[in-house]
Amino acid sequence: MRRISLSRFLIEEQRNKNVISSDLRLLIEVVARACKAISIAIGKGSLAGVLGSAGSDNVQGEVQKKLDVISNEILLEANEWGGHLAAMASEEMEFPHAIPNRYPKGEYLLLFDPLDGSSNIDVNVSVGTIFSVLQCPEGMEPDEQAFLQPGSRQVCAGYAVYGPTTLLVLTIGDGVHVFTLDRELGSFVLSQENVRIPEETREFAINASNARYWEPPVKRYVDELLAGKEGPRGEDFNMRWVASMVADVHRIMSRGGIFMYPLDSKTVKQGGKLRLLYEANPMAFIVEQAGGAATDGRRRILDVVPERLHQRIPVILGSKNEVERATAYHSD
Ligand code: AHG
Ligand code: MN
Ligand code: MN
Repeated sequence: MRRISLSRFLIEEQRNKNVISSDLRLLIEVVARACKAISIAIGKGSLAGVLGSAGSDNVQGEVQKKLDVISNEILLEANEWGGHLAAMASEEMEFPHAIPNRYPKGEYLLLFDPLDGSSNIDVNVSVGTIFSVLQCPEGMEPDEQAFLQPGSRQVCAGYAVYGPTTLLVLTIGDGVHVFTLDRELGSFVLSQENVRIPEETREFAINASNARYWEPPVKRYVDELLAGKEGPRGEDFNMRWVASMVADVHRIMSRGGIFMYPLDSKTVKQGGKLRLLYEANPMAFIVEQAGGAATDGRRRILDVVPERLHQRIPVILGSKNEVERATAYHSD
C-alpha cells in the first residue's frame, strides 16, 4: 500500500494544485503536531494525573478540565514561534493571544476549541480538537475585530478526534481528507480522500433531554423522526448522541446523519450553545466541503458575520436533504 504522509500530501497540494502557501502548510503541520501531543496527553490519562477539573472557570463560565488547559497550552506554544501567525483565539481565553514580539509574525489567524467534549474526558469517551484558519485583513491589527469574519472566509479548517484511533480531518477548501495517526511512527497518514456525506440519512443526533425547551419547528422535525414507519416520514430513524461535537460530526462524515444543537429557551439568551468561531464555522466548512449543509435554522452558518469573539449560535448540520428539511420547518 502506498502511504502518503500529511507532509507529503501538503507538499503535493502546494506543488501541483497551488492551493496552499508555505506558511499555511507550516501552520497545518504545526497544528497536527500539537494534536499529536494532545493525543499523547489524553492517552496517558490518570497515569499522568491529567484527568479531572483544573479548579478554574473559562470565559464561557464553564468549569475547565485540566486537559482543557493543557491542550490550550500545547496549541499556543506550538504555534507561537513559527512565524506563520498574526494571532490566535481560543474558546478557553477571553482575548486573542498576540504573537510575542521576539518572534516574527505571519498573515494567518488561528482559532481553536482545544478540547471539545471535555465533559467526556473523565469517562474515557472520544474527545477532539477543532480549529479554523482565517487571513488577517491587510493593514489590520490582529485584535478581536480581525477575527470577526464570516466562516466563508476560512482558508482551512479541521478537527482531530481522539478515539480508538486518532484522526485528523482537514479541508483547505479542496474537499475533505482524513489522516490516521500512526502511533509508532508518530505521523499522520492519509486514509481517506474526498470524503462525501451521504445526502440521505436515517440517523439523527440531538440532546433529547432539552426537548421541553425546543422551538416548535425542532419539536415538529424530531417528532416526525420519532414517529418512524407509522409517521409522516414512513421510515424508522436511529438516534445517537456522544456529547462530543467532534465525535458526533465524525460519525456523520463517515455514514451520514443530522446533528442539531438548536436554539432553545435554555440557551436563547446567549444565542445558542455552540460557539460560532471555534465550533460552528470550522465544522460547517468541513461539512459543506463534504457535500453536506450547515445552518442555524434560518441562515447558512458560513454567511453569519460574527459580532463577538465568543459568540454562540444554534447549529443544524450534516446530510443535505435532512438539514434542508429541518431548516425549512423554521420558515413554515
Ligand atoms: P466543549 O467541551 O468544548 O465545551 O463542547 C461541548 C459541546 C459539544 O462538543 C457537544 O456537542 C455539546 O457541548 C454537548 O452538550 P450537552 O452536554 O448539552 O449534551
Ligand atoms: Mn467544544
Ligand atoms: Mn472545548
